[in-house]
Amino acid sequence: PDHGDKRPLDLLIAAPRGFCAGVDRAIEIVEKSLEKYGAPVYVRHEIVHNKYVVEGLKAKGAIFVKELDEVPTDAPVVFSAHGVPKSVPAEAERRAMIYVDATCPLVSKVHRQAERLLEKGRHIIFIGHEGHPEVVGTMGQVAEGEMTLVETVEDVAELPFGPDDRLAYLTQTTLSVDDTAEVIAALTARFPDIRGPKAEDICYATSNRQAAVKELAEECDLVLVVGAPNSSNSLRLVEVAERLGTPGRLIQRAEEIAPDWLEGVDTVGLTAGASAPEVLVREVVDALARLRKVRERTVTTAEENMVFKLPRQLR
Ligand code: F3S
Repeated sequence: PDHGDKRPLDLLIAAPRGFCAGVDRAIEIVEKSLEKYGAPVYVRHEIVHNKYVVEGLKAKGAIFVKELDEVPTDAPVVFSAHGVPKSVPAEAERRAMIYVDATCPLVSKVHRQAERLLEKGRHIIFIGHEGHPEVVGTMGQVAEGEMTLVETVEDVAELPFGPDDRLAYLTQTTLSVDDTAEVIAALTARFPDIRGPKAEDICYATSNRQAAVKELAEECDLVLVVGAPNSSNSLRLVEVAERLGTPGRLIQRAEEIAPDWLEGVDTVGLTAGASAPEVLVREVVDALARLRKVRERTVTTAEENMVFKLPRQLR
């Protein structure tokens, strides 16, 4: 169908975008669990924050629940990529359940760092977004009161610690690289002896996707981010674009694109959060191509070749 306005639309597609190694692995874990144990396989929490992925796995026999107590004791259960508090596998053990942990290895790494820092007698300041399942999972690695959550520079100013307290910080893996640098600067200014992680906790996928959007946003009149409203790393991509002065819109599916979004727009940037599959990106490209004559170009800022091994029980 011809929609009148056939002015060419330059479409800059960010690379890297979309699925990260942790999401790939988590989805494969559910698929392999279905093969090995047969349906139904229960999954605690959305395996990754994407409705399309979740619906696809439901169709194959996965049942998604919020809490472990909704899972029958004799059914296998998978824990999501975001990680879970220690109490969750402990409860599964107590009930002698079959469980497969799809926590991203980069999140597990933060969990282990937290334990080590506590052994060294440090109180942990955790930089993250309250209520996000990764934050709930990481805070749940330690006893109540051993980790304090901060989200902003303002939160740092209110911390009830003094210069003699032995502190360390860790971060959520899917934060804004720029905001986190500011929070860390505030922490080190107030607590010069605070310890930080050797390598950044913000994961390679999060920082690469943010860098790619930065590269193209200034050239664009609009940036579309394919991702879910509860996906932390997707929300951060919208922010990156907006901070460079380019309006950003988070969309779950192509059908959300209103034709008037393209009024006066010559260049659109397109990316996808780490939990959004490539087919949804292509769906957006096709939808734009129905509205305008699209000239597509990929803007590549990094190559990724990360692959994580499956848990031993599924290999
Ligand atoms: Fe892991 Fe980063 Fe993806 S922590 S799940 S690789 S967004």
